[in-house]
Amino acid sequence: MCGIFGYTGNKTNAANIILDGLKGLEYRGYDSWGIAIKVNGSIESEKHVGKIGNAQTNLPTSSIGIGHTRWATHGGVTVENTHPHTDCKKQVAVLHNGIVENFQELKDELQKKGHKFVSETDTEVIAHLIEEYLKTKNFVDAVRETFNNLKGLNAIVALYTKSSQIIAAKNGSPLILGVGKGELFVASDASEIVKHTKQVIFLEDRQLAVLDKKITLYSLPGGTEIEPKIHTLDWQFEKAEKGEFKHFILKEIYEQPRVIENIALNRRGEINNLAQMIDEARGTFLLGCGTASYAALASVYLFSSIAKKHVNFSIGSEFKYLEDYLTPNSLLIPISQSGETIDVVDPVEKAKKKGVRVAAITNVLGSTLYRQADFKFLLGAGVEKAVIASKSFIAMISTLLLTAYTLAGKQQEGIEILKNASNNVSQILKDETIEQIKKLAVRLEKADHIYVLGRGLSYAAALEATLKIKETACVHAEGFAGGELKHGVISLIDKGIPCIIIAPNDETFDEIISNAQEVRARGAFIIGIGPKNNQVFDEFIQTADVKEGTLIPQIVISQLLAYELALVRGIPDPDKPRNLAKSVTVK
Ligand code: AGP
Repeated sequence: MCGIFGYTGNKTNAANIILDGLKGLEYRGYDSWGIAIKVNGSIESEKHVGKIGNAQTNLPTSSIGIGHTRWATHGGVTVENTHPHTDCKKQVAVLHNGIVENFQELKDELQKKGHKFVSETDTEVIAHLIEEYLKTKNFVDAVRETFNNLKGLNAIVALYTKSSQIIAAKNGSPLILGVGKGELFVASDASEIVKHTKQVIFLEDRQLAVLDKKITLYSLPGGTEIEPKIHTLDWQFEKAEKGEFKHFILKEIYEQPRVIENIALNRRGEINNLAQMIDEARGTFLLGCGTASYAALASVYLFSSIAKKHVNFSIGSEFKYLEDYLTPNSLLIPISQSGETIDVVDPVEKAKKKGVRVAAITNVLGSTLYRQADFKFLLGAGVEKAVIASKSFIAMISTLLLTAYTLAGKQQEGIEILKNASNNVSQILKDETIEQIKKLAVRLEKADHIYVLGRGLSYAAALEATLKIKETACVHAEGFAGGELKHGVISLIDKGIPCIIIAPNDETFDEIISNAQEVRARGAFIIGIGPKNNQVFDEFIQTADVKEGTLIPQIVISQLLAYELALVRGIPDPDKPRNLAKSVTVK
């Protein structure tokens, strides 16, 4: 959460360079943004509530500065709570990503010492604590001592009027440093650094970096100097443009046929390795958060029905309460588009200490999860800019489906299924289905509640379809296993309430149709998505029958419905839903 970008170097338009960096990092949080630069021994800053959009900066020229785009945790969305935060004398400016769990007690002590606070944030405490330590220490030691006092997972960046240094410290939230020609960068992820330089340093937990002409690294808490490890990222900076599409989410939905094909045709070697690791492991555990957790859940059904193999699933944020049964013979498969979700990164760190093998499935090269893992499977879906995960989920499902077929010794059959699924998605994206979905969205515009039912593998699909509707169109939606209907939730069904039925042509079909009959009997409006129509459906959206791969076109149809519903409901920016961020780096 929150995007951080800092610059010091030989160029004098630091504020512009930082603003450009923040624009690329805004998917990490877009409640408010701010920049601070050093000019003639003082700090000048600007702060704004809302998204950056096409904003320009009015800050004067400078060759050193820091900037932040915020996802609010402590304190409302106001100018006062926008970063950077300063100390009483406005000599220290601080940015922060994370949560200072002990901020209140630190604040109380500082107020007793006369410090005046202007914001409700946990972050402002950091600026005043540095100010306090500067009374007796130099800037580096003041920041080091301050950071050592912070409880929780945090990343901070600081600027000081009396120093030419930018200081960054990290424990948990990501920070990457860039080494350019006569210029240095610090950012929350490498995507905005690689457009300036391919030479990067991944700041590790409990490390502090001083950026001043060169980068000096120190370990925390002690401050022992350590040799920086410079990596050359042979990335092509992929400027994510919308092209002819109105929103990134639509562009990324239309990229899915290529994403599926890439996994079907170009990843056999890695899929073989992953299948072998699962085959050899004594207990395989897949975990993820949000959309990635539904891919992990789907894998339980895929491996069971295709490969007769039991694997375990857990939500990332719950896994730390479960992982005590892991052994060095276990295999952990964390799934994360960003590779930065703290509720996945944290339990992986704990598992590694127990000697557990980690095979990570992620979409971001160089992310924390990518660097943590023993085996790294890159989804290859390309940059996903929309906060709403679409192509990354379909890439996750394609990978897990093909791995299950590989484990069953039927890889070619799995490849055919993915190719057919990709063709069906291409078909859906160019035929009358789009118009049908647009009309259905208009019909659902006023719905206050939408329910999605599925059984078996389709239960995982129902949960993902529900999440897309919730986060894209901001409508209350609930997904549940069809069999759970009569155990309570059917009490929510009333006349006209839309119920989406995920109905593939498999062993769940007859029973899910019975469930559809049960909600129809209470007056629900039934929308069926699948290869086989049925008279219980008031609306039917056809897909091809591609066996277990049928959930791929079913999910793509749900993504499109959620997007069209967002448009008819006048959601301002479907790419950046309110209160969300693309990678969740706080607990
Ligand atoms: C999905 O549309 C959401 N943005 C969210 O649930 C997301 O899937 C979750 O935060 C996990 O992100 P990750 O895959 O980057 O770990």
